Amino acid sequence: MSATLLELRAVTAGYGDVVVLHEISFSAREGSVTALIGSNGAGKTTTMRCVAGLLRPDNGTIAWRGGVINALSASERVELGISLVPEGRLIFPDFTVEENLSIGAFNPRAKPNRNRRRDEMYGLFPRLRERRGQHAGTMSGGEQQMLALARGLMAEPKLLLLDEPSLGLAPSIISQLFDIVDTVRRMGVTIVIVEQNVHRTLQIADYVYVLENGQIVIHGDAQSCAENPNIKQAYLGLY
Ligand SMILES: Nc1ncnc2c1ncn2[C@@H]1O[C@H](COP(=O)(O)OP(=O)(O)OP(=O)(O)O)[C@@H](O)[C@H]1O
Ligand SMILES: [Mg+2]
Repeated sequence: MSATLLELRAVTAGYGDVVVLHEISFSAREGSVTALIGSNGAGKTTTMRCVAGLLRPDNGTIAWRGGVINALSASERVELGISLVPEGRLIFPDFTVEENLSIGAFNPRAKPNRNRRRDEMYGLFPRLRERRGQHAGTMSGGEQQMLALARGLMAEPKLLLLDEPSLGLAPSIISQLFDIVDTVRRMGVTIVIVEQNVHRTLQIADYVYVLENGQIVIHGDAQSCAENPNIKQAYLGLY
């Protein structure tokens, strides 16, 4: 079995006096796809923000290859290999596709390989090559999501955090997106994905955690989760 790349141990976090995550523990093995599912407001984005270093836990530890990284800043975590593709894409609308991609390689580790990496991204996302000179804000929702994903990959991540990549996309684009996520995993990148599209996510994930009200209530391999009656009822619309 592969080594544990990321591990959260009893992480408690929130905003001001409001506690959102209550002692959550989860881990991601090297080379795997780990899914985090749960209803709106469960704390999924908050969890991703803690891993990326955008929010400091009040308690608990975040470990990377066994070493505690709580004290590292967001940019130090990018340098380690942690890259977040945030919910809602957050690309720079007035910059071109090419400029958005270049910004993704701002970290010292990725910067020297920027041009080669960008060509790789154009190979993976041919539409972005066609649109390289276009302002990102004028692209379609699906194209913008592909750009956000490609920009995340420009940082040469070892761990890619995807927060609801399929949100708002048409079914045919969602299908392409999941195919690309699978390709990225085969490139050797470990993935933690937050998704509302549970059916499709269970097909690509190795391991699944269910977050409810800031607590992990179910976890297991994807197949056992797909057969779990509570998950079927709450997240797959099956009875
Ligand atoms: N900056 C903030 N300040 C205060 N409360 C916040 C902040 N961000 C999130 N929250 C609250 O934390 C809780 C968890 O939010 P979070 O964004 O982590 O949920 P989520 O599981 O990602 O939901 P969704 O599926 O809707 O994206 C919510 O009740 C939310 O209102
Ligand atoms: Mg969210």
